[in-house]
Amino acid sequence: MKSINVGIIGVSGYTGIELLRLLEVHPVFNLVQVTSRKLAKNTLKTVFPFINKYKDLVITDSEIDGFNSEVDLFFLAVPHGTAMDIAKKFVAQGKKVVDLSADFRLKDKETYEGWYNVEHRAWELVPQAVYGLPELYEQEIRSANLVANPGCYPTSVILALYPALKAGLWDGDKIVIDAKSGSTGAGRSPKENILFCEVNDNFFAYNVGQHRHTPEIEQELSFWAHKSVKVLFTTHLLPINRGILSTIYLGTKELDLDKIRAIYQDCYKDKRWVKVLDKSIFPQVRWVRGSMYCLLGLVLDKKTQQLVVVSAIDNLCRGASGQAICNANLLCGLDMHTGLEFEVPLVP
Ligand SMILES: NC(=O)c1ccc[n+]([C@@H]2O[C@H](COP(=O)([O-])OP(=O)(O)OC[C@H]3O[C@@H](n4cnc5c(N)ncnc54)[C@H](OP(=O)(O)O)[C@@H]3O)[C@@H](O)[C@H]2O)c1
Repeated sequence: MKSINVGIIGVSGYTGIELLRLLEVHPVFNLVQVTSRKLAKNTLKTVFPFINKYKDLVITDSEIDGFNSEVDLFFLAVPHGTAMDIAKKFVAQGKKVVDLSADFRLKDKETYEGWYNVEHRAWELVPQAVYGLPELYEQEIRSANLVANPGCYPTSVILALYPALKAGLWDGDKIVIDAKSGSTGAGRSPKENILFCEVNDNFFAYNVGQHRHTPEIEQELSFWAHKSVKVLFTTHLLPINRGILSTIYLGTKELDLDKIRAIYQDCYKDKRWVKVLDKSIFPQVRWVRGSMYCLLGLVLDKKTQQLVVVSAIDNLCRGASGQAICNANLLCGLDMHTGLEFEVPLVP
């Protein structure tokens, strides 16, 4: 098959490095541009000695050197507020774009600007941006040019709740989400609260009541529930590098766990990466490390009439760069699993 040229904007960050790892083994995508302001002029092998196929590719600074016109599809692994301007340029040139930031995920401008505290300068592109959760929106992604790659926490939460909401199992006024992430979720730029001595041998909640993934989760869950969904969403930082574990509580009148498990299994029966675990088995982050899997564990608390769903994903692969490559596959007419067919996570 003819190769397709791709580029990574922001190769020095954690999701950029994860994209590199995955593109090394992709059979169709050919990496022709990688950018970073601070690493510009280095070859990839100088800063990432584990790279083989693309070891001699020179990192460029897009602000000085511009963009390679031979690229067919760009991955934007840059912060929100930065991605929108770059995406605007590429879409105008007819390039395909997978944006890993939050810039095109929210469908309401005031909500975006309120939660992210930045003016949206490319709002005209939002209607054409497809939310890139492949199990839910495969056909829409196939016919798009611009994909809003979902956030890491929203990926773990939406996959965990989609079957229940679609089947009308939810009966309550809010959904409670207690989520924990490894510290790569905070990005690679130095910040005091993610220094080794702050994170190691420690555990704490952060952004309580104000995490920016809240409106994204509510938007998507409301769509599938056909009514407004409000979530109480609390995030914690784990002293590990990668992985997200979300424990989710939702009221239900269905008190037969076997029936609920059957609904979940039926919903994901053709979806290779989402696995509903057997009774009394609950996901662990090491079972998904470096993979595209989302593992789901279910339990019913009859006393409080709550369904508890435990969901584990790898934030960098499934929650960011692996999902971005899956979306790029779909944008380019490939099977969504292309280049992501590794079946065994990095255990232990
Ligand atoms: N980390 C995760 O688990 C995760 C999961 C899902 C989504 N995301 C999203 O993915 C994006 C990247 O996340 P990350 O964790 O990889 O962040 P990161 O480690 O902080 O890296 C940010 C990257 O963006 C580049 N960059 C920053 N400002 C820029 C600018 N003004 N112009 C051009 N490049 C700029 C940086 O390169 P230079 O400074 O060298 O130019 C760096 O390569 C973010 O929007 C994040 O929210 C992250």
